[in-house]
Amino acid sequence: MTATQQATLTPPFRPEAPQEHIDSSIDSFMASLPDPATLSGEERRGLIARYTAVLEGNFIYWMTATHLAVRSPEAKEEIEENLLEEVKDNHPGMLRKFAVAAQAEPTELDRRAVDRDLQNVREFVGTLSPLKILLMMAFFEGFIQKFMAYLADLAARSGSSEMVYTDVHGVCDIAHTQGLFHSYAGELALAKNSTPSEELLEGVKLLRTLLQTIVRPK
Ligand SMILES: [Fe+2]
Repeated sequence: MTATQQATLTPPFRPEAPQEHIDSSIDSFMASLPDPATLSGEERRGLIARYTAVLEGNFIYWMTATHLAVRSPEAKEEIEENLLEEVKDNHPGMLRKFAVAAQAEPTELDRRAVDRDLQNVREFVGTLSPLKILLMMAFFEGFIQKFMAYLADLAARSGSSEMVYTDVHGVCDIAHTQGLFHSYAGELALAKNSTPSEELLEGVKLLRTLLQTIVRPK
């Protein structure tokens, strides 16, 4: 199936049941990825480096912002568990080790390639809008989990066998994604005035644009 066919099959977003739309949107993103066999060594390095530049220093920060944004005790607890795992198991260090082993440490140019889209996500995260940020993070966790096999393939093609980061995130993020959807449902029940449904996807769209730039820098 082509990315275009997949995109046309994406079910409409329904605020009270967002998972189907988000999952489908992740699948269409995955379908748009270039075949690793067609990428040059430099293209593989750049992709891993830009992914690392975005994830290493921002994931815990954005999950912390999510914790600050949510109101329900259940959501706070759910996100706290996610953060504890990130911090205790040193996930940023795990990712750095992965990038170094694949000889794909981010350079200044890699950082500059993602800078504008990254700043846009940071501005959005600063608004601390609980429903929007939970949807963005659910999309993010779901994407990370599905992206791990692809990322591991790139690293293996570059001669690396250091796969702790991709092995861990291909598994633990399934539970984290469900936790975020659960938190979203709790927050939705608390929300007094309903935000127009399209606006709820603001963060998802900004993050998707950033991920697209990681894959194909402009
Ligand atoms: Fe992680």
